[in-house]
Amino acid sequence: MEVLKCEKLKKKIKNKVIVEDISFSLKKGDIVGFIGPNGAGKTTTIKLILGLMKLTDGKVYINGYDIQKDFIKAIERVGAIVETPDAYMYLSGYDNLKLAANNYKNICKDKIYEIAKIVGLENRIKDKVSTYSLGMRQRLGIAEAIINEPELLILDEPTNGLDIEGIIEIRNLIKKLSKAGIAILISSHNLNEIDKLCNRIIAIKNGKIIADDTIENFKSTTTEIHILELDRVENLDKINLGFKFEIINKNTVKMYVSKDTISEVIQKLIQNKYQVFSVKEEILTSEDAFMKKVGENTID
Ligand SMILES: Nc1ncnc2c1ncn2[C@@H]1O[C@H](COP(=O)(O)OP(=O)(O)OP(=O)(O)O)[C@@H](O)[C@H]1O
Ligand SMILES: [Mg+2]
Repeated sequence: MEVLKCEKLKKKIKNKVIVEDISFSLKKGDIVGFIGPNGAGKTTTIKLILGLMKLTDGKVYINGYDIQKDFIKAIERVGAIVETPDAYMYLSGYDNLKLAANNYKNICKDKIYEIAKIVGLENRIKDKVSTYSLGMRQRLGIAEAIINEPELLILDEPTNGLDIEGIIEIRNLIKKLSKAGIAILISSHNLNEIDKLCNRIIAIKNGKIIADDTIENFKSTTTEIHILELDRVENLDKINLGFKFEIINKNTVKMYVSKDTISEVIQKLIQNKYQVFSVKEEILTSEDAFMKKVGENTID
């Protein structure tokens, strides 16, 4: 059974549709990257899933429980950080965890230490949060989110603001949690991050899902760029190449065309009296792949 199932989620605020037709599911052990430009609707979708925002339409099931009809049962085994985790700065990490534990039954002292250890805060857990670095606060946020042994963990930009070292540490922590069988949904802008961490990508743009695929497919369907060196680039738009291209400089053009059709393009160029000096396949980074597929969000 799916740990999380979203069916046609819709949120309208006043007369503006914020997200629409959002359907996807997560199984045990999935680590899914939820990507999209600023304002695409990631946080809104997450808030709808967690019942922090009321659905205009659609259904959310967590472990089979309807979030609207069976909120307590649905949310019982969910951990989440939405936007930046808040902690009581004047309390210790331990006391913050204890407060979080109070929301659930039967969480003992040992469990709090165990969680502190999992997130690597064991040596600083008795220190005030105000003395923590951003990365340590992020870890504390994750600790709070996993204190109830969730089956579903939702992290809204968990590496936001962290340095490289912090990012790697949080990544390893997330991997560790995933190995323990927790289904994880992570929103992020950092695509290289998602690339290294997730087994699936869900991309959202202007409130709609535009891709839901494995990382490999997501990238392979977009690795379709060839760089051509020509004698000139003038009037390329006058010949009907049938592919999107971008002029880089007076001799170089970027063609959005795959390997199996590149010879067709070269033929057309030669027929039109262009000289082709070289052709180079460009391997896209996930960032490029993302930009090509997702592009910018329209902010209105
Ligand atoms: N309470 C609200 N009232 C009106 N509009 C809202 C509200 N909350 C969000 N929005 C709008 O909904 C859209 C999606 O916002 P959301 O925060 O979900 O985006 P996001 O994908 O999380 O972006 P970011 O990457 O910047 O965190 C934005 O256009 C935002 O202005
Ligand atoms: Mg957001």
